[in-house]
Amino acid sequence: MKPKILVTGGSGYIGSHTIVELIQNGFEVISVDNFLNSIPNVYDWIENLTNQKIVKHEFDLRDSQKVNSLFSEKINLKGVIHFAALKSVPDSVENPSFCFDNNNNALLNIASACVSFNIPNLIFSSSCSVYGNVSADMLPVMEKTPLGEAESPYAYSKQNGEVFLKYICNVKKINSICLRYFNPVGAHESGLLGELPAKRVNNLVPVITQAAAGVIDAFTVFGNNWNTRDGSCIRDYIHVSDIASAHVLALQKLIESKPSNYYDIINLGSGKGVSVFEAIQAFEKTTGQKAPYLIGERRAGDVESIYSNPQKAERVLGWTPQKSIEDMMASAWKWQLRLKELGLAKHKL
Ligand code: NAD
Ligand code: WQD
Repeated sequence: MKPKILVTGGSGYIGSHTIVELIQNGFEVISVDNFLNSIPNVYDWIENLTNQKIVKHEFDLRDSQKVNSLFSEKINLKGVIHFAALKSVPDSVENPSFCFDNNNNALLNIASACVSFNIPNLIFSSSCSVYGNVSADMLPVMEKTPLGEAESPYAYSKQNGEVFLKYICNVKKINSICLRYFNPVGAHESGLLGELPAKRVNNLVPVITQAAAGVIDAFTVFGNNWNTRDGSCIRDYIHVSDIASAHVLALQKLIESKPSNYYDIINLGSGKGVSVFEAIQAFEKTTGQKAPYLIGERRAGDVESIYSNPQKAERVLGWTPQKSIEDMMASAWKWQLRLKELGLAKHKL
């Protein structure tokens, strides 16, 4: 019998790519999403890609009764990957209560159900935003690098989630890995799955592809006067399919780790810092498309440079990223063209 995994937020960007990877690695998937930031069609895309049906449920994970009722169906889960959260940093600044309520209560309900129903393995989506504003001498950041102050309610919800799970694992018989993603970008190589444009697209790669496709006239580079090699900010971009495959390895690690109370935190990044101008150049060179941009003011809350030390992921999980920045840009462009075909290029949620 195939091991069964619950994926929360499974119709979202990273969840959907991870479901594909799980199915291709012999897992059976059950998913919950309330489509707060996704659409049900995503499940059809996954099913077409994998030729396998997913058992899916639509409800809000803040509803503890519904969470418990799902777990009490004796679905015999081997583990849970908890993606479901609100991820927009600016939205969290505008509406901190919604972000806290959603991210903290969904995690509380899922972790509590894992404990109550003896589901021992839980993977949590954390974020490089937990590091806060890091100084140049702390780069590349390691898991043991001290966390700075959270720069947003979103980052705070992730710091909270990590600490909460540490305490839960300490006293109850569950294992957990918190995966700190850096900047996940790109799309499935088939061009059939990718990130849906949200009501407010504010991440770099989607605005590059939108500008190149003419969905927007141009995007703004937020500052060219940072103290970096070309004046623009530096980030650690990582292909979403590499992120997805790390989840399969993390799950296998937890399933194999016999002693309970296992808790760990692992960075998922490429370890390479790429500037905004370098990212634009990589896109233009790979796709042959121009991405029009203007130079603007620095964006409030941006850090100058952050990139990971990914050695722990290699040591503990045997994970190394396989995709280059060119692969990230080529797949993001393929997906932008697919969105146009689907009439979703300007999708407003
Ligand atoms: P996403 O918004 O595409 O997917 C999240 C999914 O969770 C959505 O489909 C949404 O509808 C669902 N959801 C949210 N709250 C829910 C609730 N209360 N009940 C049921 N479903 C709910 O986001 P993503 O990019 O796939 O991110 C997945 C996880 O990774 C999130 O926890 C996010 O914070 C984290 N993360 C993302 C990034 C990134 O840049 N994408 C970076 C670091 C960490
Ligand atoms: C990347 C770089 C911008 C848009 C966010 C979250 C982080 C994590 C990943 C969830 C920055 C520049 C961007 C634009 C630009 N998510 N930029 N013009 O801010 O590094 O990280 O997503 O956990 O927590 O904070 O990602 O893609 O928004 O920006 O110049 O129109 O591109 O200044 O240097 P960020 P991003």
